[in-house]
Amino acid sequence: MALNEEIARRRTFAIISHPDAGKTTLTEKLLLFGGAIHVAGAVKSNKIKKTATSDWMEIEKQRGISVATSVMGFNYGDYKINILDTPGHQDFAEDTYRTLTAVDSVIIVVDVAKGVERQTRKLMEVCRMRNTPVIIFVNKLDREGRDPFDILDELESELKISVRPLSWPINIGEKFKGVYNIYENSLDLFTPDKQRVSERVEIESVDDPRIDDAVGDKDAAKLREDLELIEGVYPEFDKEAYLRGQVAPVFFGSALNTFGVKELLDCFVKIAPAPKPVMAEEREVKPQEEGFSGFVFKIHANMDPNHRSCIAFVKICSGKFERNAPYKHMRLGKTLKFAAPTAFMAQKKSIVDEAYPGDIVGIPDTGNFKIGDTLTSGETIHYKGLPSFSPEMFKYIENADPMKSKQLDKGIQQLMDEGVAQLFTNQFNGRRIIGTVGQLQFEVIQYRLEHEYGAQCRWEPISLYKACWIESDDAEALAAFKKRKHQFMATDREGRDVFLADSGYVLQMAQNDFPKIRFHFSSEF
Ligand code: G4P
Repeated sequence: MALNEEIARRRTFAIISHPDAGKTTLTEKLLLFGGAIHVAGAVKSNKIKKTATSDWMEIEKQRGISVATSVMGFNYGDYKINILDTPGHQDFAEDTYRTLTAVDSVIIVVDVAKGVERQTRKLMEVCRMRNTPVIIFVNKLDREGRDPFDILDELESELKISVRPLSWPINIGEKFKGVYNIYENSLDLFTPDKQRVSERVEIESVDDPRIDDAVGDKDAAKLREDLELIEGVYPEFDKEAYLRGQVAPVFFGSALNTFGVKELLDCFVKIAPAPKPVMAEEREVKPQEEGFSGFVFKIHANMDPNHRSCIAFVKICSGKFERNAPYKHMRLGKTLKFAAPTAFMAQKKSIVDEAYPGDIVGIPDTGNFKIGDTLTSGETIHYKGLPSFSPEMFKYIENADPMKSKQLDKGIQQLMDEGVAQLFTNQFNGRRIIGTVGQLQFEVIQYRLEHEYGAQCRWEPISLYKACWIESDDAEALAAFKKRKHQFMATDREGRDVFLADSGYVLQMAQNDFPKIRFHFSSEF
């Protein structure tokens, strides 16, 4: 198959949700449709979230399993689908942010009873930053929940995106009867069954009397009324607006009962984008270009502490990737060959000879890669650094074993390369501060420093509200700010200036007092 065709048939995306909305269940059902697994219950990746936070066995298990489920590739009809897994536990949200830089679109799962929850709101912000096309799946229609029109309003206001229903439920909870597929003008009746697909009623249009026969006169009348309202309120679905990230099509269903999932998948492959051009520092790179290029968006440490080997996950952006071909590692300026790149198909990890834009290859590594590194077949291209967001929790990290300070330094450096957390160095006193999204990350760092590097660390409290990257066109204003706030100035790993604000009030005052300084809450500006 020609490169163009390989690209056109690829759909690389992530499913995101607040924990428990049904991401794992939906992922599993998509894999069932793709024939990648044969029984439900095969994907148990993010079960860690349901266990106590300090359960080390579970964390280790998670790290082991999540290599296998990091990327799930399968064929569906003419399409090659790559689902990128994101961690279930919200303390690892930073990983999810990075994964979102490697996908071409996103499916958001929302629980019909709970509506938009905190994590979903945050992840949507990341999608908005990059205009990532989003499809929303409202899940658990077999349970009592909110009125679908209310849910649509909430999606619009909370996720700050226009929505357009492409399917519509007939009742919910105990009375749930089925879903009318607006996109294809068809009707699917609900049969609660975890393995079987729903029953389809052939209809001509929404006025077809067979709808009345199937769901009863009353519900058929209500459906027609609802659909009329939808057509009146929501503009017709505009695929281009979806591709620009301006409107999100909405589907309703029940992942657990495999209901509404096929409708979602069938529409998804038709409308979701194939790999798109990517803006590098030097120029825009098109997937169809002959020269290979890609970037590392995730590094997975090996479970075996004696061999500090990792897998670097490379998203292919252009050209064809070939095993054993010489590729240039931009940051190191070295040419490397990869003898054992792996790909992930139908839940199996195997060595691949070639891969195409949209695909992810796993490259075994012993320390050559950092998150954000670019590989090319020769041309100088640097994909823009992946964004870091202001962490939410901060602690000083101190050496608890003076004999092992080298090990500690190395451990911290490598864990940061892997993107486990963010490191800031206070410009005033040189103390190191680790910033994370959740408490669990501190525990993981301490555990891994000890088990993989033989180093002991101690955490000391620091009360901070946010870290913001600062810049200004006015060098004097910048110098004045840094002088005034010298105790709160830090440097990130790239040497950029970061202001550590200890409260929202202090941050607001700083913004008022120094209008020439720009404050950024993500490192991508
Ligand atoms: P997550 O990955 O987003 O965290 O959610 P997950 O799929 O693990 O689903 C969370 C819980 O919601 C699971 O129940 C799952 O079975 C249930 N669920 C998912 N989809 C539906 C649905 O359409 N209808 C109903 N009624 N429930 C659904 P659990 O009891 O927490 O776990 P399990 O023991 O069933 O695995």
